[in-house]
Amino acid sequence: MSREKDRESIGSELVPTYAARELAKGVAKHRMAAEGMAPRVAYQVIHDELRLDGFSLLNLATFVTTWMEPEARQLIDECLDKNMIDKDEYPQTAEIEQRCVNILADLWHAPEGKPVGTSTIGSSEACMLGGMALKWRWRDRQRAAGKPTDRPNLVMGTNTQICWHKFCKYWDVEPREVTAEGNRFSLGAEEAAKLVDENTIGVVVIMGSTMDGTYEPVAEVAKALDAVQKEHGWDIPIHVDGASGAFVAPFLQPDLEWDFRVPRVQSINTSGHKYGLVYPGVGWVIFRDQDALPDDLVFHVTYLGGDMIDFSINFSRPGSQVIAQYYNFLRLGLDGYRRIQQASQDVALYLSSEIGKMGPFRLITKGDDIPVFCWTMDEEYAKSASYSLYDLADKLRERGWLVPAYPMPKNREDLVVQRIVVKEDFSHDLAERLLEDLQRAVAYFEAQKGHVAKDEGSHFHH
Ligand SMILES: Cc1ncc(COP(=O)(O)O)c(C=O)c1O
Repeated sequence: MSREKDRESIGSELVPTYAARELAKGVAKHRMAAEGMAPRVAYQVIHDELRLDGFSLLNLATFVTTWMEPEARQLIDECLDKNMIDKDEYPQTAEIEQRCVNILADLWHAPEGKPVGTSTIGSSEACMLGGMALKWRWRDRQRAAGKPTDRPNLVMGTNTQICWHKFCKYWDVEPREVTAEGNRFSLGAEEAAKLVDENTIGVVVIMGSTMDGTYEPVAEVAKALDAVQKEHGWDIPIHVDGASGAFVAPFLQPDLEWDFRVPRVQSINTSGHKYGLVYPGVGWVIFRDQDALPDDLVFHVTYLGGDMIDFSINFSRPGSQVIAQYYNFLRLGLDGYRRIQQASQDVALYLSSEIGKMGPFRLITKGDDIPVFCWTMDEEYAKSASYSLYDLADKLRERGWLVPAYPMPKNREDLVVQRIVVKEDFSHDLAERLLEDLQRAVAYFEAQKGHVAKDEGSHFHH
């Protein structure tokens, strides 16, 4: 009997996974095969291929949560089959989403009254919704004043995340960017105020710049816009992009006024899947009050006799991530969140100070806003160095570490930095291992002769 026949006659239950007939050849990848394969075999094929991905624990490039407790995973698993949008069919999931909205509105000092907001797939969708509310409100103001509505603009820094460029493109809004200048890599208050006019739908201020981890000065921008209003009468709102920082500042810098305590702040977005400590993807957008969200943008859904708003770009998505967010709120409480963010910040400060002491590097930030910091190569050292930060990133990758190198924003592209995002699962002990590998990598390059430094390409990760 041929081996093929032999296997068929044994029956699929007895065939060892790797010796299964389907694996004798490569599997069909770009077209469906005529016949399927045993679940165990399909699982193993995909599982093995995915092992070629980076290891998420060592991914210091991403802001996105790479570890949750087993109980959270269990809830996620239990809710994967519930569609978040089916508010009528899953009223309890809808109720829990509203509780999360209330919790965030309270955390960010929204005024008394029914909190207004929604969960999203991430910050990008939340930013689109915040931006649309700004555009709609501006248009209403212009119409009421009998003024044209065809040339809206949005003011922001050149360091904004790509979602704001998408917003401007998709919704036909002119982006007006404050460029980086010298050692200012993000939005300056006076510079922002200079760019606004009566067609400005709002100013985006970032809490936790993706580029270097610093907070932009929300209260100062608000003050500069107060002066603009006094002079010209334009009442320009602020949207805070708190993708990372809106889950950090309330715990680590509770006295910093960046949220609804600043009257000009009309809406705030965050990523539940960044420092909200939930696996991707969940985001949130919260509005100051009912007035900040034009009713024209909202679809009303009735459930259990109540009124539920539907304000989204997406429609179907799993309820699991919203439930996981609520799990964290219940499980951790304010103190739990504070302790976790503090632990991440302690690791960031330790690592940045050690990297700063090494010699070849100069710190740009140290991680004292959000636990994210970056450094560049010391100018003097760079003159005789035979390697660049891109080479260093590649070298660290040999050990599994993902530490991106990239140029700073427009006007300071000459400055190449390397950045680390410290998250909950990056322990002090692991940080020590990274430092050892960093020292080993530097020693390796310093021992090389005639190496040509790599100066292009970017490993930047949003
Ligand atoms: C400041 C900022 N805004 C928006 C985003 C987009 O977030 P998300 O990936 O949740 O869509 C990011 C992601 O890094 C960010 O850092």
